[in-house]
Amino acid sequence: MNILVINGPNLNLLGLRNPDIYGQETLEELMMWLENSTEGKKNQFKFYQSNHEGEIIDILHDEIEWAQGIIINAGAYAHYSYAIRDAISSINIPAIEVHLSDIYNRENFRKKSVISDVCIGTIAGKGKNSYLEGLKVLTETKK
Ligand code: DQA
Repeated sequence: MNILVINGPNLNLLGLRNPDIYGQETLEELMMWLENSTEGKKNQFKFYQSNHEGEIIDILHDEIEWAQGIIINAGAYAHYSYAIRDAISSINIPAIEVHLSDIYNRENFRKKSVISDVCIGTIAGKGKNSYLEGLKVLTETKK
């Protein structure tokens, strides 16, 4: 399955950014771990990270033909970007929302995701395993 992985703003700083919340590993380490996992090896990946809302939307549009499933950690955009929400709902490719941290048990503004209901599921609070579980949900959905 062709899996598009999109990481949003500030996730390029993983390893450095609030390690108590997001862990010690870099984004690259995390994505390599996902790709090299037993489940990962059965799939093809394209990895993107962007700090820009419009660029995330462009990536979603540009990969319409290639992507068969999307794993998206939209970072803070998950909490307020109706534009990213509309992009996901426009392209008719199953998307799973992931977060490293438990967004439901942090500050109030993180409790709400505006992209959840255009995704087939949300996995949060499991660290890098949120991505792996997201991948499993996508591949199970395809069967
Ligand atoms: C995050 C949670 C968001 O609230 C935050 O803005 C992030 C990271 C996570 O992976 O836990 O940037 O998406």
